[in-house]
Amino acid sequence: MGNVIKKLVIGLVVGGALVGFTRAFEFPVIFQMMFFAYAMLGAVVFMILDAPAVKPMSGIKSVAVLVAFYIVLCTVYISGASMWPQYDPEDEKGKIEKILKPKRAATEQGKADELIARAKALDEQVKVLSARLKDLGGDQATKDQAAGGPGAPPATTAAAAGDFMKLGEEQWQLQECYNCHKLKGEGGKKRGPELDNIASYLSVDEIKQKILDPKSFMAEGFEKEYEKGKMPDKYKDLMEEKDVVALASWLGTFKNTSVATPKPIKKK
Ligand code: HEC
Repeated sequence: MGNVIKKLVIGLVVGGALVGFTRAFEFPVIFQMMFFAYAMLGAVVFMILDAPAVKPMSGIKSVAVLVAFYIVLCTVYISGASMWPQYDPEDEKGKIEKILKPKRAATEQGKADELIARAKALDEQVKVLSARLKDLGGDQATKDQAAGGPGAPPATTAAAAGDFMKLGEEQWQLQECYNCHKLKGEGGKKRGPELDNIASYLSVDEIKQKILDPKSFMAEGFEKEYEKGKMPDKYKDLMEEKDVVALASWLGTFKNTSVATPKPIKKK
């Protein structure tokens, strides 16, 4: 009995040490538990080593004991395994969907942009052709245009511009710029400049440049943060060209002069 307690204590000490190590190395809790379980399993094995030897068996009895042992082992493994956290595939699918959705929406937006660009090009062609027709004396084309025919400007362009701005705002959320920048009175816990008046200083292209290369501009009064590289230099890897343009275009609409956005100083 004394031996059993001794081995139990050693098992607990080793298990505790393992939990301490794994916690220090920031293993997930489930792994910490597993290390502890292995230490206890080891202790049990050592306790069994002390057990008196089983008498030799043969014939039917030995087969029965073997089968019983097998059943016990299976039960322990199956019930043990079902005690670990179970993952619901539907849950996991939901999480994946959440990540993929904006990406998919973005590609669809890209396709829509392409179609709009093509429609615009066709529209230009129609205009040129109708002008030529007019030159030739026919005024049919002009009547077409007045009737909202193929010459009329597409009403979809304005809607597409709105969608584009929405994509920009989505990128603001998705890239978590709000963590450091206050905008419309929201966000900015880690103290970057408020950006409500950024469009008074920077063009869309310059904002884009700042996002892709944070060293390109420095906000006046934020010398220390600029030197330390507080604004992450990762967006050029994370964002697609279209996303950056949308975000910069959206920020390019912020001209609220009542907010003291610091003056950006060109560095590169
Ligand atoms: C971890 C904090 C942090 C994040 C995240 C961050 N920034 Fe910044 N940003 C800063 C700091 C600090 C400055 C001021 C120093 C500088 O100019 O580099 C700054 C400056 C700027 C400026 C210039 C402002 C001025 O008045 O000159 C713009 C524009 C800007 N950030 C846009 C963005 C956008 C867009 C995102 C998201 C894609 C973003 N930032 C994400 C910290 C951050």
